[in-house]
Amino acid sequence: MELNGQTVLVTGGAGFIGSNFILYLLEKYKNLKIINLDKLTYAGNLENLKTVEDDPRYSFIKGDITDPAVVGQVMVGIDIVVHFAAESHVDRSVMNPAEFVMTNTVGTQVLLDAAVKHKIKRFHHVSTDEVFGSLPLDLKLKFNEDSHLKPNSPYAASKAGSDLLVRAYYKTFGLPVTLTNTSNNYGPYQFPEKFIPLVITNLLEDKKVPVYGQGINVRDWLWVKDHCRGIELAITKGRLGETYCLGGSEDMINNLVVIKKILKIMGKDESYITYVKDRPGHDLRYAIDSSKAEKELGYRPTIKLDEGLEMTVKWYKDNQGWWQRVKTGKYQTYYKKQYGDMG
Ligand code: NAD
Ligand code: TYD
Repeated sequence: MELNGQTVLVTGGAGFIGSNFILYLLEKYKNLKIINLDKLTYAGNLENLKTVEDDPRYSFIKGDITDPAVVGQVMVGIDIVVHFAAESHVDRSVMNPAEFVMTNTVGTQVLLDAAVKHKIKRFHHVSTDEVFGSLPLDLKLKFNEDSHLKPNSPYAASKAGSDLLVRAYYKTFGLPVTLTNTSNNYGPYQFPEKFIPLVITNLLEDKKVPVYGQGINVRDWLWVKDHCRGIELAITKGRLGETYCLGGSEDMINNLVVIKKILKIMGKDESYITYVKDRPGHDLRYAIDSSKAEKELGYRPTIKLDEGLEMTVKWYKDNQGWWQRVKTGKYQTYYKKQYGDMG
């Protein structure tokens, strides 16, 4: 489907990936309208969209996806929904699962109902590889579109519930949907509670970096703009009702290796590494087989981890005001609860 000429509702567009996606679309498509519906939780930040706030093709509505009245109003005149809005941090889902079920699962169902009612041309659902659970360390196994749903955290379970609802609305109501399940993103505008920006900003503040357990957990890292491109491809070239798995890394890279790469880029030694209590239910390994997306969509990540980490460190160095403002206030309360008095 063609994107030019459409009105696109982006939910959660003030968050990390949503804001990168809006900037990406506005740069690439000249004849397109974007409405950003975001509740502005702790993770939503309109500063990410400063460069486009006066663009006549872009508008912002503050609102909650779990509120049917708000969603019903916003859906009028929309062609395409790209659904990012979510509670997205695993550690917070351990502290407060109910909020995750409400936003991620119920919120998705509220959007789906409105999308059916307003005969939306496409509902694209953005999901995660975490719905598939955990892979063993010693095997070269990868997740793909046929992997079983085996979520281990309340976050992953609430996203798995949303994936199933999207599928059910396709089968039952004929809503034209596509889905993507993606690995760990990193890059500009990521909230510094997530691993990579937490490590970088702690080091910029000359603080220690917390490693859960032994640091042997493996993630599949994807440069955020490569993810945006993958979503665009799923919308423009994907088959209705289909899921596409989008991954990034080429090798098995554990958390300690990621930290050591960042320490090297930032010219710091390994004394900054601090081992802290492991996350309960901590998934050991994620890895994605993107071959379906490669074959059907022409998806291919362009940025390798070493290059992406260099660019990410540079972005956080160049945008100290952004993350310093984010790290004040409620972030401090969360940080103390999660990490205690660590350096
Ligand atoms: P984020 O936490 O940075 O942003 C989430 C955004 O959603 C925020 O702007 C927040 O204000 C908004 N939001 C939260 N609750 C809302 C509600 N009830 N109503 C309206 N808006 C609400 O998250 P992110 O990292 O940008 O992730 C975006 C999406 O991508 C999520 O669905 C997530 O599950 C998925 N995803 C993320 C990753 C990753 O590595 N970050 C990987 C795969 C998939
Ligand atoms: P995170 O960015 O929270 O993403 P996810 O858990 O959704 O994959 O964490 C990435 C990895 O880094 C994960 O294995 C947990 C680990 N981690 C730490 O070791 N220390 C930390 O302070 C954080 C936030 C994460």
